[in-house]
Amino acid sequence: MGAIFTSPRNTVIAGVVLLIIIIAVLHTTGVKMFGLDHNWSLLAMRWLHIVSGVMWIGLLWYLNFVQVPSMPSIPAENRGAITKVIAPNVLFYFRYGALATVITGLLLAAMNPGNYLVNALMLAPSHRGIGIGMWMALIMAFNVWFIIWPNQKKILGLVPATDEQKAAAAKPALYASRFNTMFSIGMLYCMAVQSHG
Ligand code: HEM
Repeated sequence: MGAIFTSPRNTVIAGVVLLIIIIAVLHTTGVKMFGLDHNWSLLAMRWLHIVSGVMWIGLLWYLNFVQVPSMPSIPAENRGAITKVIAPNVLFYFRYGALATVITGLLLAAMNPGNYLVNALMLAPSHRGIGIGMWMALIMAFNVWFIIWPNQKKILGLVPATDEQKAAAAKPALYASRFNTMFSIGMLYCMAVQSHG
């Protein structure tokens, strides 16, 4: 057990092994399982999409509900642990989680039969729910890469910035993050409504 839980890499490997066992138990048609069966590829893409979405939105909620509200209670001399170590790490997984969610979401839509992707993006009546969700999530991903990340780079000192530039970066970064948190609630409903509504 120690070998698994003392290293995050080994923990993930153990999780993937467990996933393979779950798949083997659930899918009796074992040959199809590892073949190019379209339904199974769709399911695998859906799984990848949910995993990356959890990575992204989990960290968004961590930032909004845990890290940012905790900052005032942390003595100034200890804040460097957050700003120099934890936050840059969080923002790495956060922005690549967002990118992976967009890519897997668009692939998932493109792999669905018919003109699913186009219908969804055009908000056709049959795909209005998922279409609204996709547009909301695309706006959120835009915010991550083009508002939150460039401003956070200045705030955290990852790029050269004057004190004025750092101060000016705080508001757009916070508001875009709060905006995404607000959108995430309705967006998740839209993700589920297409198949389960
Ligand atoms: C631009 C970004 C996104 C795109 C293009 C996208 C696209 C899709 C598509 C096409 C589906 C399948 C809907 C269906 O036919 O059942 C879906 C489902 C789903 N998505 Fe997204 N999505 C995006 C962002 C997100 C985010 C940020 C999350 C956060 C966790 C998320 C979580 C989910 C979940 C949980 C499902 C439901 C799967 C199911 O019920 O079977 N998606 N998404």
